Amino acid sequence: MNPIPVIEAARDGTGPNPDELEAFLRGYLEGRVEEYQMSAFLMAIVLRGMGREQLSRMVEVMLHSGRVLDLSHLPGPRVDKHSTGGVGDKVSLALAPLAAGLGLFVPMMSGRGLGHTGGTLDKLEAIPGFRTQLDLAEFEAILTSEGFAMIGQTEEIAPLDRRLYDLRSVTATVPSIPLIAASIMSKKLAEGLGGLVLDVKAGSGAFLPAEEETLALARTMVAIGDDHGVSTVALVTAMDRPLGRSVGNALEVEEALACLRGEGPADLREIVLSLATEMQLVGGTMQERDRARERAVEELDGGGPLERFRRVVERQGGDPKSLDDPGRLPATPVRLAVEADREGTVLEVEPAPLGRAVVELGGGRTRLGQEIDPAVGFSGLAQPGDVLASGDRLGVVHARSGDAAILAAEVLRSAVRVGEEEAGEVRSRPLVSHRITAADLETSVPG
Ligand code: URA
Repeated sequence: MNPIPVIEAARDGTGPNPDELEAFLRGYLEGRVEEYQMSAFLMAIVLRGMGREQLSRMVEVMLHSGRVLDLSHLPGPRVDKHSTGGVGDKVSLALAPLAAGLGLFVPMMSGRGLGHTGGTLDKLEAIPGFRTQLDLAEFEAILTSEGFAMIGQTEEIAPLDRRLYDLRSVTATVPSIPLIAASIMSKKLAEGLGGLVLDVKAGSGAFLPAEEETLALARTMVAIGDDHGVSTVALVTAMDRPLGRSVGNALEVEEALACLRGEGPADLREIVLSLATEMQLVGGTMQERDRARERAVEELDGGGPLERFRRVVERQGGDPKSLDDPGRLPATPVRLAVEADREGTVLEVEPAPLGRAVVELGGGRTRLGQEIDPAVGFSGLAQPGDVLASGDRLGVVHARSGDAAILAAEVLRSAVRVGEEEAGEVRSRPLVSHRITAADLETSVPG
């Protein structure tokens, strides 16, 4: 096949014929379409969008690029959640064991850091020894006995997403409704789920900051889930500030562990509980929202999810002692506290510059296959609404060198805006602003 007409059709916005698109995507997976040709195609889609027929074919090709799991033998509903990507988003680490404790089976397939956002796989791999590449037999064995297991896209499941995801991350081709929707939904549908909860991020730190685009992305994914018979709900959640107070792989593991201990930042706990509530509703184990939430609170505070997480960490090769002793997690030689130079209320903490600073510190990738530094990042970050005296901390930079720390400290200083307003006057997005189900969909799926 000649890949050039497909790239031209994408560039001109005429949309490639779905059969040619399919041949192009397969050709890439089989080594007949080069990385540079795929990069050009992806950029054309970012700029020109993709039609409904093409998107639907892309999802099918990605979904069937590997096996589709049949987990129907499991004695409970199979439900997962996926986020569209945010800064400080460590939700999956606490949510998966919590949902499993609530009687759901969570076959979680996640990704690595993408653009300025972190990825669950990189966070998990910050736990010494943790293996995210399991063969399917081992994955299913852990899932069956513990109720959840966490892996990356493999050569066996969603291999085309694995390749495209990594390429998009280093070619500035993430922010696109069809590309995000195809990436997320192909791997989630390959998990053989009955229910799916999507955490669609909104605000300046999201890939698609404009609210209409966020909502269009949510609706597109809910429609794809519905077309495939998977009961899908999307919550639109705030990404106009980082989630929690830590950004960076090992630092986020610590914060997720705090959440599992019933501690940690209130916003993280709230998102975890909201998503766990939705997972029970789409899984059909609970019918009543308030009761589902109460159960999630009881389960989280009972400590079971932390023990379950520990068992899964051990079975996936991770050091379980590192969960109790943060000294065993990777750490940097340099820590630099950044202080406020005036008193006032924190009005804004911009997530995207902080996410990009973590990449610059070595915590994310700028080239395909790059090794990352799991220890770098920010901890103790100020949040909107915090009231600071001059000299109070805006956060702590964790870096490999003093020079890198100074650069990241500058980014932190300009990301945090402090003003005179009262804490109650701070205008941030609501933590959860919308809930979208198939029943709410309009007839057309945006391209
Ligand atoms: N998460 C994914 O899995 N894919 C995307 O494109 C964005 C977020």
